[in-house]
Amino acid sequence: MRVLILKDYETVSKEAAAIVKELVTEKPDCVLGLATGSTPVGLYREMIRMHEEEGLDFSRVTTFNLDEYYGLSPEHPQSYRYFMNENLFNGINIKKENTFVPDGSVKKEAVEDSCRMYEERIKKEGGVDLQVLGIGGDGHIAFNEPGSSLASRTRLVALDEQTISDNSRFFDSSDDVPKFALSMGVGTILEAKEIIFLANGAKKADIVAAALEGPVTGMVTASALQMHPRVTAILDEDASDSLLKGSFYRFAADAGRKINKKLF
Ligand code: PGA
Repeated sequence: MRVLILKDYETVSKEAAAIVKELVTEKPDCVLGLATGSTPVGLYREMIRMHEEEGLDFSRVTTFNLDEYYGLSPEHPQSYRYFMNENLFNGINIKKENTFVPDGSVKKEAVEDSCRMYEERIKKEGGVDLQVLGIGGDGHIAFNEPGSSLASRTRLVALDEQTISDNSRFFDSSDDVPKFALSMGVGTILEAKEIIFLANGAKKADIVAAALEGPVTGMVTASALQMHPRVTAILDEDASDSLLKGSFYRFAADAGRKINKKLF
């Protein structure tokens, strides 16, 4: 895994945006996998800036989001579809019909079909070229909570207590946080051709170390990224604080920069 330890959140966001820009420039019809939460907001802000100021063209890009609360309509202000429109899609020239977010408003009877169709659609578009990930306080990627299968596919999941409490900051109270979600599986995520994994802040330090340096386990689903050949973890100083091999990662990143190669 390539681990980049950078000064602060802004630098992390810019580094991630540079990787997105490189891909969109090289492959204008690429498929991006996108995440919600506070972590990628700076990346999305930078993508909007690159579109406005540098003319970065998203008109042929397709996107798939990781997850959506089950039971919220796409118009609900806390839905992830709404979040994506507000934080990214409305600010770039992407075609809305090429942006996919699992549909949290499907009826119970239609959930399995809807999840299967989401997976099929990803395949039909040629798979995800670059997946953006954050990490939850409980080590989740997407809503793959502790105990998820590392071979899981897009499905209906229950949210962990910790996730409900972490996400209650966006709702009036934790009672209002949906208790279920539709989420890409760990197996789905691992099929992306390349992954950027972002984390910032001291609150994430211990779980980041568990994910990157601990055992691969369904109890910390982000640890499954150790099984993927092209992951770049982009961390700010605070989020990297509990890593055992921080000085080696810095050395390797510098060495890679010197020879102009990504050393995974
Ligand atoms: P955050 O959430 O970016 O708001 O910390 C991350 C996640 O739950 O995946």
